[in-house]
Amino acid sequence: MLRHPGRFIILLMGMALLPGQMSVAATAEENNPTVNEASRINATNTANPPIECPLRKQGINPHELKPFAETQKYIDFLERSDRAAWQKPDAVITELHLSGNEKIVDVGAGSGYFTFRFARAVPKGTVYAIDIEPEMLRHIHHKVMTEGVRNIEVITSTPDDPKVPAGADLVFVCDVLHHVKKPEAWLKKLSMQMKKGARLAVIEFREGDLPEGPPAAVKIPRKKLIEMISENNFKLERDNPDLLPYQTFLMFIKR
Ligand SMILES: C[S@@+](CC[C@H](N)C(=O)[O-])C[C@H]1O[C@@H](n2cnc3c(N)ncnc32)[C@H](O)[C@@H]1O
Repeated sequence: MLRHPGRFIILLMGMALLPGQMSVAATAEENNPTVNEASRINATNTANPPIECPLRKQGINPHELKPFAETQKYIDFLERSDRAAWQKPDAVITELHLSGNEKIVDVGAGSGYFTFRFARAVPKGTVYAIDIEPEMLRHIHHKVMTEGVRNIEVITSTPDDPKVPAGADLVFVCDVLHHVKKPEAWLKKLSMQMKKGARLAVIEFREGDLPEGPPAAVKIPRKKLIEMISENNFKLERDNPDLLPYQTFLMFIKR
C-alpha cells in the first residue's frame, strides 16, 4: 500500500500533463505565426523560459516509461520523514563547505533528496541530477518545474558510465556505489570525467548490524571503498567517521 495515495495521484496527473502540454503547445505553434513569434520571444526570456522535457532531449519518450507503480514507492522510501534523523542532510551540506556558486553533480540522485537541498545551498551555481532510472529523473524534473527551481538539470546515465558533465567542482555519490555492478571501472570513468582539484564526496553504509541500510552482502567494506577510490587518481582529503551514525563520509580530491 502507498503511504500517500493522494500525492501519488497528483504526481501521476502532473506526469501525464507535462508531455501533453508540450504537444498541444507544439501544434498551436506550428499553425499560428503569432504563437510562433511569442515562443521565440519566450525562449529568450530567462524569467519565463519554455517548458522543455529533458528526457525527450536525451532521446527518451516519457510516454513509454512505466507509470509510477514501484518508482513512487521508492521515492517515498528515499524521502521518508524519519530519514533526516540519521541521514543528517544539513550536517552533510555543512561538511561540504560550499561557497554558493559551485557546479555540483549528484550521481545516483534518486528522488533528489540531496539535489534540492544542494540547489538551495548554491543559488548561484548549478546542480546536475544524474541517474540511470529515467523515472527518478522525471520525478525530479516535475518537482523542478512545479516548484520553479532554476538551477537543477537532469541527465540520464548508463550503469557503466556516470556521465559527469565537464567542469564539475563537486561530485556527490550517496548510497550509490554498492548498486554499481562494476565499481572499479565506473570509478575509473568518473575520475576521467572530473577536472584536477575537483572534489568527490562519497557516503556508503557501514558494515555491521545497523537499523538502516542494505543487506551485509552488498555493502562495500570501508577499507575497500577507500582503496578503490584512491586507486583511481583520488587523494583522501577528509574522513569524518563521526558525522553520520550509520554511514561512512569520505571526501576525496581529484589528483
Ligand atoms: C539508494 S538510491 C540513493 C539515492 C540518493 N543518492 C539518496 O541519497 O537519496 C540509489 C540510486 O542510485 C541509482 N543508481 C544505481 N546504479 C547506478 C549507476 N550505475 N549510475 C548512476 N546511478 C545509479 C539508482 O537508480 C537509485 O536512484
